[in-house]
Amino acid sequence: MKILICDKTEKEAVEQMRAAGLQVDVRDDITPEELPKVLPAYDGMVVRSRTKVRQPLIDACPNLKVIVRGGVGLDTIDAEYARSKGITVMNTPKASSASVAELTIGYMFALARSIYQATSSMKAEKWEKKSFEGDEIGGKTLGVIGLGNIGKEVARRAAALGMTVIAYDPYVKAANGVKMVTLDELLAKSDYISLHLPKTKESAGMIGKDQFAKTKNGIRIVNCARGGIIDENALYEALVSGKVAGAALDVYAEEPPTDWKLVKLANVICSPHIGAATKEAQGRVGAEVAEKLIDFAKKMQPA
Ligand SMILES: NC(=O)c1ccc[n+]([C@@H]2O[C@H](COP(=O)([O-])OP(=O)(O)OC[C@H]3O[C@@H](n4cnc5c(N)ncnc54)[C@H](O)[C@@H]3O)[C@@H](O)[C@H]2O)c1
Repeated sequence: MKILICDKTEKEAVEQMRAAGLQVDVRDDITPEELPKVLPAYDGMVVRSRTKVRQPLIDACPNLKVIVRGGVGLDTIDAEYARSKGITVMNTPKASSASVAELTIGYMFALARSIYQATSSMKAEKWEKKSFEGDEIGGKTLGVIGLGNIGKEVARRAAALGMTVIAYDPYVKAANGVKMVTLDELLAKSDYISLHLPKTKESAGMIGKDQFAKTKNGIRIVNCARGGIIDENALYEALVSGKVAGAALDVYAEEPPTDWKLVKLANVICSPHIGAATKEAQGRVGAEVAEKLIDFAKKMQPA
């Protein structure tokens, strides 16, 4: 089987696939213009978030049998269309859960204690001790929206820190140590809200002006899931009014953003979509990509 690696992938994973007999070419800088010319010669492709696999590319590659996305979300791939053409689409669902959960918890501490703002103030040679009275996160209520792999990892860590964890997920009935609630109940009770659901037609814009109106004053919100689930204009207004005391964002409606006004607010801390960017997660992603492709190739071999 011929595999084209279209985005950065761990060397060990590439070596593992080659050792298993796959013919692997690494073109992790390939452009969207080059792809339709190069990809038709391959049976499979590996992508991360950089390479988008849309319908026209799929149509240009009638021999493509498998697409593996190193990562969780399949929003960069027209997965349903690919499957309708008989292409197997796989991802690495759990490889980065712990890393995203740790970033989320880190963000909650940073919001509670204004770690970024205090650092910036000192770098400006200021000693504003009185400006940085914070809160403890222990004893507070965390509302998790989307209680899947990452949501559960966040819930477990937050409970260990003494938080009460409630969650809204219409597809999960019960979970250990977490009270399942309606979205309205979550909005009303949470001191912190953290998003861990995919962006779908249903979830796009689901946290907007009406939802912020239902929260406590001064809540803090973390989005390490997908941009666009929170209406960014409504969040901007809520941060300016103080209804939301602080937001931590790893993901944006547009990446990179073209309008930076939200990011520039003093009560926003942020990162450029780095939730899964740890050595450990990348290692696990690479290993899982290799394992899945090797397995797939074995199944394709005539008995
Ligand atoms: N920041 C990053 O770098 C990064 C890295 C990995 C994953 N993610 C994102 O994190 C999110 C969660 O990942 P995961 O691995 O936990 O996925 P998952 O599929 O294990 O869990 C998602 C959960 O969301 C729930 N859900 C779906 N629609 C919902 C809705 N409308 N309301 C409430 N809940 C809903 C599902 O039932 C599921 O339990 C995904 O959007 C993923 O793309 C971000």
